[in-house]
Amino acid sequence: MTLPMVVRDPGLPARVRIHEVGARDGLQNEKGTVPTEVKAEFIHRLAAAGLATIEATSFVHPKWVPQLADAEALFPQLQDLAGTVDLPVLVPNEKGLDRALALGARQVAVFASVTESFAKANLNRTVDEALAMFEPVVARAKAAGAQVRGYLSMCFGDPWEGAVPEAQVVRVCRALLDMGCDELSLGDTIGVATPGQVTALLTALNTAAVPTGTLGVHFHDTYGQALSNTLAALRHGVTTVDASAGGLGGCPFAKSAIGNLATEDLVWMLDGLGIETGVDLGRLTATSMWMAGRLGRPSPSRTVRALTHED
Ligand code: HMG
Ligand code: MG
Repeated sequence: MTLPMVVRDPGLPARVRIHEVGARDGLQNEKGTVPTEVKAEFIHRLAAAGLATIEATSFVHPKWVPQLADAEALFPQLQDLAGTVDLPVLVPNEKGLDRALALGARQVAVFASVTESFAKANLNRTVDEALAMFEPVVARAKAAGAQVRGYLSMCFGDPWEGAVPEAQVVRVCRALLDMGCDELSLGDTIGVATPGQVTALLTALNTAAVPTGTLGVHFHDTYGQALSNTLAALRHGVTTVDASAGGLGGCPFAKSAIGNLATEDLVWMLDGLGIETGVDLGRLTATSMWMAGRLGRPSPSRTVRALTHED
């Protein structure tokens, strides 16, 4: 298998934690429903490829996201991984948290929007109503000893509202941190960001006393900018990057969203920069090829395609 030549860049971190979202962000957007056993095997294969944080599913309303309605059946099938792999799950409200805690989830994520339009479309709430909904979720999750991630969607642009003022992102970041979230993930839900905007937003957040160490980045790749945006974030000191095996993904409530940054494209770049991730690129690529076979279409990842057309 071809590997990139390793040339380090002293301005970048030594290690990056990849937060793998293919099984959740990827599969929530499939037209058909993937069988529970296939999801379980996908997650086991991702773990065997060295991914240590694998977002497993969502405990949302099954009518809103029927593709993930099997969360209760799936999560117990992952129990052999608990202890070696973090398996965060999305919980929008206390009902979702109850369902997740009942199955022993140790990492949960609430998901806010920084725009009113997407808060309504995704959560049937205003931005502030959604934050009020999350408050007891975060408090109870922390009291139960779980780690809590707070997602923020539409940080760089919104399909209904256009440009998004930085102040809106700052406000929601502060609210989620004040609630007790351990980590935030800045979502470019529709993939419109460019690198200068990433640096500007991270700088504005630092100015507002949001430390870089609490921030992860979550780029969708609609305009092919996800990897460039990630590099800008790494240069700013971010060390948590969300990505989706094979580039699966999108959001059913934002039609212009397509797949996340492909984990293989990310790992190719990080391997080339000598940045540790713990991920075996060959095993990961084989997993995405296997999943592409289950879904009946090729992976959009350039790295997956390049590595599988070598011979
Ligand atoms: P709602 O209709 O306003 O809910 O939906 P409600 O609170 O009025 O409750 C209505 C009924 O739903 C009640 O049942 C509840 O019990 C039930 P009834 O009394 O009528 O029989 N219910 C639930 N059932 C099971 N599990 C639950 C649950 N909650 C309520 N958790 C709600 C509000 C938040 C539930 C709904 O809008 C929802 O489920 N939304 C989820 C949307 C979603 O999953 N979107 C994709 C994930 S976000 C994303 O992809 C972006 C991200 O990747 C970052 C980025 O890219 O930007 C993270
Ligand atoms: Mg997403």
